[in-house]
Amino acid sequence: MDWGMENRLARIIKPESGHTVMLAVDHGYFLGPTHKLENPRRTIEPLLTYADSIMLTRGILRSSVKATASTPIVLRVSGGTSIIGKSLADEGITTSLEEAVRLNAAAVALSIFVGTEYERQTLLSLSKLVDEGEKYGMPVLAVTAVGKELEKRDARFLSLSSRIAAELGARMVKTYYCENFEKVVDGCPVPIVIAGGPKLATELDALQLTYEAIQKGAVGVDMGRNIWQSDHPVAMIRAIRAIVHENATVKEASDLFNRMKKGE
Ligand code: R5P
Repeated sequence: MDWGMENRLARIIKPESGHTVMLAVDHGYFLGPTHKLENPRRTIEPLLTYADSIMLTRGILRSSVKATASTPIVLRVSGGTSIIGKSLADEGITTSLEEAVRLNAAAVALSIFVGTEYERQTLLSLSKLVDEGEKYGMPVLAVTAVGKELEKRDARFLSLSSRIAAELGARMVKTYYCENFEKVVDGCPVPIVIAGGPKLATELDALQLTYEAIQKGAVGVDMGRNIWQSDHPVAMIRAIRAIVHENATVKEASDLFNRMKKGE
């Protein structure tokens, strides 16, 4: 692997633990001002020091994150759809590689929609982005998106989608946790991070999800709503970090969360 590519990946996946806590705050690109992300700066600022990287669009980066911040940027470069439009799967590339370099991104991210009528379009976008990314040492993270069809999140679909992403050259894959998740990891030769998905009933559920994903081979999380929709987002990201980087059990992380939330 060339120096630039390896260096960028090491800024995201911490060499000390081999793991990563990525903070996803890109939801507005198709959801608009989502609950608790209405004012991105307010949501992002307190969490920034606890995130190994932050995933967002160029618009929110420029408007809501100080350029002096040292947290690596994973730039969302796909979109073109909205939650009220015809299909969330009809995405294209929205941001050039040149722009990603200008913004000092550590990686670029796009969604693929396997099994939809836009499968080919989004997979060819991935391939094109990888071609460009490899020229500049810029890793591409592929998101195995399911759009509104959350029930698609099973091992069969996620293995298929993750493997295709890796075959087309993604350096990292973001997918969902599922039953038999180890099969998804086993069939995907590049590091996998999991999204949290919609906010779970309790913080304990999200800590459990994180723990199981790490146990079964994920290198970390790229989590949004289960962190910043919590009433105690800083306590939550710190508890997630304990599992991801320090091998904490769910009980240890939950105890940490309960201690930290008192201080928030
Ligand atoms: C996915 O493509 C979205 O843009 C989010 O980045 C992703 O779903 C992760 O966030 P959450 O943990 O809220 O699902």
